[in-house]
Amino acid sequence: MLEDFARDFEAFSGNWWTYFIPFCVTVIGFIRVYAGGPYYQGKERMDGKLVIITGSSSGIGFETAKDLASRGAHIIMAVRNAEKGKRALEKIKENYKKSQVTVKLLDISEMDSIRNFVDQIEVEYEKIDVLINNAAVIHQPYTKTIDGNELTIATNYLGPFFLTHLLLPMLNKSEHGRIINVSAMAHFNGKLKVEALNMNKDNYNEADAYSQSKLALTIFTKYLATLLNKNTTITCNAVSPGLVRGTAHLQNLPLLKSAWTRFSTWPWVWLCLKTPKQGCQTILHVALNSNLKKTSGFYFSDCDFKEPAELLKDIHVAKALYKTSCGLVKIDGDDIINKLGNETFFLADERVEGLDENLKGLDKQVEGPGEKSEYLNEKDEYPNDF
Ligand SMILES: NC(=O)c1ccc[n+]([C@@H]2O[C@H](COP(=O)([O-])OP(=O)(O)OC[C@H]3O[C@@H](n4cnc5c(N)ncnc54)[C@H](OP(=O)(O)O)[C@@H]3O)[C@@H](O)[C@H]2O)c1
Repeated sequence: MLEDFARDFEAFSGNWWTYFIPFCVTVIGFIRVYAGGPYYQGKERMDGKLVIITGSSSGIGFETAKDLASRGAHIIMAVRNAEKGKRALEKIKENYKKSQVTVKLLDISEMDSIRNFVDQIEVEYEKIDVLINNAAVIHQPYTKTIDGNELTIATNYLGPFFLTHLLLPMLNKSEHGRIINVSAMAHFNGKLKVEALNMNKDNYNEADAYSQSKLALTIFTKYLATLLNKNTTITCNAVSPGLVRGTAHLQNLPLLKSAWTRFSTWPWVWLCLKTPKQGCQTILHVALNSNLKKTSGFYFSDCDFKEPAELLKDIHVAKALYKTSCGLVKIDGDDIINKLGNETFFLADERVEGLDENLKGLDKQVEGPGEKSEYLNEKDEYPNDF
């Protein structure tokens, strides 16, 4: 019996495929783990915290909502499609029966819808702890919104810009309000035309419109962080989720529109791209990590600080972009931010102490990632290592 087994084993182990197959499985497993990126390991709870996530009925936004709801946060799913929102809410409730999730209608590309959304939030809630600007569109044919803006820039940049400003007073009521703007690696390819953010039909290109919108969002993130650092404890950071499969975003790519290219690229997409759950890990890292309470103005990817596009170093571009954007959404950004400082001093003692610490830091050089970013210095430049 033992001899039979030894003979069979020898025959089996003499075949090349007995080594080749485990080798392939190991290599594939290794690539999948590597491409999937790190998982956020923190165990922080979010009980009593209010989190708004735009575009959370699907994809990365949905996975973010699910995770934060499981940690006790009250999630406001800000979605444009009530039916999809309801289905997403039910899915979260199936998994976490005690979760607090509310669906609110918001079309982030339309200014009136944003105003209505904010009016409701102001009436129903005291403060906001985390705002995640996740909703976005990609590869859209040229379309104008009812406000007259091009759809991609309106959805991916102007809408979040407007929403964020309207919600600043409520974020300021949180001990450490956090704004997270979901950017993309595409921002590296972006060409910013500050005076012509709204492309017209003749010069419109779907890919350029997307990369410009993400570049504008990333520049705005850093600039807003410096403005808020003057008189609030609100932080503002940008996150790139990496390349993520299984979301509507990817399905809109021209490459994946035909059945043949979808079929032929599927193995690579499956092998090298993240799942939505893996894609939301850096958002969780920035939303939850208690070491990042005072970290503002940075760009993150794979749960770590990353260097963003070169153009982010240019304060003059950031200022011009901010001015143009305020004009397009018809707000006085400086006025909104200046008023926040006044309110801060009426908050609890603990909060004022925190604020004092920040103010003390303003004349110090920033000490690198992990420290709160320095407010713009006298020379009107970003600090070197900001
Ligand atoms: N997937 C990737 O590889 C990738 C890579 C880099 C960055 N990102 C970024 O990650 C974020 C999430 O993308 P995803 O991959 O999860 O794609 P997704 O599944 O297409 O999610 C986008 C979400 O935004 C919502 N949305 C679009 N227009 C809206 C509007 N006008 N008002 C309100 N909500 C609107 C969509 O709602 P509907 O369901 O109603 O359409 C959807 O829920 C986006 O900011 C995207 O740019 C994704």
